[in-house]
Amino acid sequence: MSIPATNIFVSPRTARHNLSVPPLVHMIGNTPLIELTSVTEDLSPDVRVFAKAEWKNPGGSVKDRAAWAMLSDAIRNHRITERTRVLEATSGNTGIALAMLGAALGIGVTLCIPDNASRERKQILQAYGAELIFTDPLLSTDGAQVVARELKQKYPDNYCYLNQYANPANVNAHLTTTGPEIWRQTEGAVTHFVSGLGTTGTFTGVSRYLKARDPKITIASFQPDSPFHGLEGLKHLPSVHIPDIYDGSLADIELEVTTEEAYTLCKRLAVEEGLLVGTSSGASAAAALQLAKTLEHGIVVTIFPDGAEKYLSTPVWEAN
Ligand SMILES: Cc1ncc(COP(=O)(O)O)c(C=O)c1O
Repeated sequence: MSIPATNIFVSPRTARHNLSVPPLVHMIGNTPLIELTSVTEDLSPDVRVFAKAEWKNPGGSVKDRAAWAMLSDAIRNHRITERTRVLEATSGNTGIALAMLGAALGIGVTLCIPDNASRERKQILQAYGAELIFTDPLLSTDGAQVVARELKQKYPDNYCYLNQYANPANVNAHLTTTGPEIWRQTEGAVTHFVSGLGTTGTFTGVSRYLKARDPKITIASFQPDSPFHGLEGLKHLPSVHIPDIYDGSLADIELEVTTEEAYTLCKRLAVEEGLLVGTSSGASAAAALQLAKTLEHGIVVTIFPDGAEKYLSTPVWEAN
């Protein structure tokens, strides 16, 4: 078996152990595209809905793609030295991905994280050895970004701030992996792409790729319908700082999803499809179905960003 030796950089640990790209990097991406066959029963028979099973990534979420793209870009551009720690503001999944990759590479990771992130997320981050700085939950990830920026300003040589909200590598991750995978897995037959907005990297990257392949593909973005939605990873854009990487011109349709709809779909996906997914995946399914119900023909693809494990102590499952 030939193992790709990418050898794109030398980090402190790789220098000592003479390793190249950590093996787990080869587990990122190429996730299954799963057809939803039960929650779609009411749809026109010529409409099919598929979801990318992003919890199959080694860190358990879609953010492994963006984290590796940003980290490898920073390493290639010599922004990480033996003295530098990687710094990021994150509501959780990017942090988990960076903590995992940092551990594998021997690079220290410091994360500014709103204090209301779920207990399971905090435990996972600590297990990987990341340093956590808890920020004001009322200020959400906007507040975490302010703290991260202040740290970087105060100690410029100690931190490499990746800033996923403004980092083009976040978009590129999806332009070069998630988008092409969807195109390949549907053999170019995808007609509609539905994506939630967080940092907006997934939406912007995948949509840009698909529109370039076939401008007739309809792109739908969706957001929670209110600022206090509890759908971790998603943003209600009118009430937050709009990410620099967001390209709203890509959306042909803009949808809204209520927290209740997302929770209902989480439960239906579990008992009807056998898919135990996170709340933003429930929201993705709700948005995809909203759109699919209006169609007579079509292949609708959405993203299921993560699994349910990290949310089992949160209201969506506690109500059971
Ligand atoms: C669970 C979850 N859903 C959705 C998203 C949104 O993805 P993106 O940041 O690419 O917009 C994220 C991002 O952190 C997430 O963690």
